[in-house]
Amino acid sequence: MASSSSPLFFYHLLLLGSALFLTNEATALPEVPNLTTLSFDEGYTQLFGDSNLILHQDGQTVHLSLDQRTGAGFASQDLYLHGFFSASIKLPADYAAGVVVAFYMSNGDVFEKTHDELDFEFLGNIRGREWRVQTNVYGNGSTAIGREERYGLWFDPTEDYHQYSILWSNERIIFYIDNTPIREVVRTQTMGGDFPSKPMSVYATIWDGSTWATSGGRYKVNYKFAPYVAEFTGLVLHGCAVDPSNHNTTCLESNDGVYNAMMISTDQRAAMERFRKKHMTYSYCHDRIRYPTPSPECALGPETESFLTTGEARSSYRHHHGKRNGRSTVDVAQYSSVA
Ligand SMILES: *[C@@H]1O[C@H](CO)[C@@H](O)[C@H](O)[C@H]1NC(C)=O
Ligand SMILES: *[C@@H]1O[C@H](CO)[C@@H](O)[C@H](O)[C@H]1NC(C)=O
Ligand SMILES: *[C@@H]1O[C@H](CO)[C@@H](O)[C@H](O)[C@H]1NC(C)=O
Repeated sequence: MASSSSPLFFYHLLLLGSALFLTNEATALPEVPNLTTLSFDEGYTQLFGDSNLILHQDGQTVHLSLDQRTGAGFASQDLYLHGFFSASIKLPADYAAGVVVAFYMSNGDVFEKTHDELDFEFLGNIRGREWRVQTNVYGNGSTAIGREERYGLWFDPTEDYHQYSILWSNERIIFYIDNTPIREVVRTQTMGGDFPSKPMSVYATIWDGSTWATSGGRYKVNYKFAPYVAEFTGLVLHGCAVDPSNHNTTCLESNDGVYNAMMISTDQRAAMERFRKKHMTYSYCHDRIRYPTPSPECALGPETESFLTTGEARSSYRHHHGKRNGRSTVDVAQYSSVA
């Protein structure tokens, strides 16, 4: 997608976008907007996996499956500069070690060396044990710093759909699960270009992450239990769209003020801190093995207990420094998007 778009084009687009924002009137959105969902064909297109992507008759629900042959994925037709992006996801049940399901934003196909990325990644499970969820943020090719956090969940994500959302404004990034914010990244001077600032596409994928996903690769995908099916519905794309095929922009809703105004209320912040205290199992801010000196923004976060177990730190280290060979092209693309 969009490989012919030059960075210069985006620079001009940003200028144009700013002009449009100024002429738009800020409209108040609820803190977690319950926005109109799109049909799959309106907003998305298949990325890989041929018949392992199945679109339901309702036009809104998509099943992505992983079997011995391939995983599957889809991507938004447009790139977006800021906005609110959401999907209701139901994860594969039972044994799913090594299986990675991801809902994320990236522009790695447009900016190879300076890409931006925002991730929700579900890192498989071992039967009877809970799934782990990871969030991550990269800006302008900042792959030398992985800003990962990992969490357990307060529900079984294989039993029902739950909504996973990313708010990305000029000032902050907020990850939500259902209506609870679970992570906020505030743009700071010291982050510089590490704060994502160029238009990104939205992706959903399922793939084989045997080498690292579950307990640092100790538990692999077992194809005896295949196909692994992840269900997506309630797809929300609310942002400043950029059509990569004709370079048009449709910033109708995308007054940056709208997204900047979506801040976390006092109650929501209390809920976020409760979640983080109880369910966060890893934060790069506390990983003194990978980062003897923590990133400056780490000093801003609410100080919580020391989450880090050396095992998690080590597996994370291997994930980021391990070899990447032995993968299909698509898997390499997906893998590099998280590493
Ligand atoms: C969003 O809308 C759906 C359908 O109208 C409703 O069931 C759900 O409770 C709403 N969620 C929120 C957070 O308002
Ligand atoms: C992004 O990275 C490129 C290449 O390293 C650099 O030239 C540019 O100044 C960076 N942009 C920002 C906003 O930091
Ligand atoms: C998009 O661009 C094409 C040509 O570049 C133009 O013909 C078309 O009218 C544009 N569409 C919108 C919605 O601006």
